[in-house]
Amino acid sequence: MLREHFPGLNKQVHAKPLVYLDNAATAQRPRAVIDAVNDYYLNHNANIHRGVHSLSESATERYEQARRSISRLINAPSEKDLIFVRGCTEGVNLVAQTFVRNRIKAGDEILISHLEHHSNIVPWQLLCEQTGAKLKVIPMNDQGELVLNELDQLLGNKTKFMAVVHVSNALGTINPIKKMVAAAHEKNIPVLVDGAQATPHLKVDVQDLDCDFYTVSGHKMYGPTGSGVLYGKAEHLNAMPPYHGGGEMISKVTFESTVYNAVPAKFEAGTPNIAGGIGLGAAAEFMMSVGLDKIAQRDQELRVYAEQALGEVPGLRLIGTAVEKSPVFSFVIDGIHAHDIGTIIDHHGVAIRTGHHCTMPIFQYFGLAGSCRASLAFYNTEKEVDVLVESLLKAKAMFE
Ligand code: ALA
Repeated sequence: MLREHFPGLNKQVHAKPLVYLDNAATAQRPRAVIDAVNDYYLNHNANIHRGVHSLSESATERYEQARRSISRLINAPSEKDLIFVRGCTEGVNLVAQTFVRNRIKAGDEILISHLEHHSNIVPWQLLCEQTGAKLKVIPMNDQGELVLNELDQLLGNKTKFMAVVHVSNALGTINPIKKMVAAAHEKNIPVLVDGAQATPHLKVDVQDLDCDFYTVSGHKMYGPTGSGVLYGKAEHLNAMPPYHGGGEMISKVTFESTVYNAVPAKFEAGTPNIAGGIGLGAAAEFMMSVGLDKIAQRDQELRVYAEQALGEVPGLRLIGTAVEKSPVFSFVIDGIHAHDIGTIIDHHGVAIRTGHHCTMPIFQYFGLAGSCRASLAFYNTEKEVDVLVESLLKAKAMFE
């Protein structure tokens, strides 16, 4: 059974079997990822790209093999189009401060959407402060879907860049990214897609999406924390200035000037998270061995089951009811604070997230401070959804 690959699931919390439904915050790791990280530290521990000795070469080979695995996962044209970063946050900041900063001036516009995580809002606000550019927002409707009939009008003469989320971490909405990218490209506007919550659930093909940049978060897709990649079209990566200066990103340094290394090294200053990169490669291989279509199909089975089960809890209101959705359920229950619900059901072994989920503007739209969020992964079960529902009913009973 797939679940057996995840040793972290097999534990008790408050003397109850753990029901882990906080996968959008961070997923559990399969044994293959834990083993790959351990194997690096135990058997190949050395710095990469720097040594002629055997250990350094085997560490480098593992790191570069990981880049190839992740490249296959998202169908990048070449592994050279992938930059290892700490996660999506760093990927977005990198693009904002190199690619976009170079081509934006006061009065220009950057377009994002109402569904963004703070990590795809604040880097653009910083850039706007630095340049005098303006941030524009694609609106959202009551279902938590983007109002795309306004997209064409929002992609105006002044729009220099669009940055949009593929799958909402707070509501689960799956955006029609391919269509949105095509609309922006009609007007020669490049697009970054935040894929943090997409790669754990969907088969992502960056060539088919034709996006200019795509960010991947390692720990959301069963890999290590502090790992991730930024995919960029080669023509952009080659033309962009470096982000961080330091070792590895250079080919020649004098006190007068520096010649930068080729992509991707140009963007990978300093000793990277070697174990994290190797672990992320193992996560990509693991997902491909399970089957990306199989993962997506299982997610949808769970989504349908959980949607119906949660719908039967009296007084529970789902926030975000998009037609295209991943198995992420934000909800509130009349008269009970989200933090109280989260704390009570933790005592039944159920782990969910409560609060604004780093998406305050979404909850401002709904007039809420936050919500409870149950986010499922393909290793969750219908029985676990039943335990969630039973624990919510018990929480409700305590307030009656
Ligand atoms: N962005 C993460 C979440 O959705 C932390 O919980």
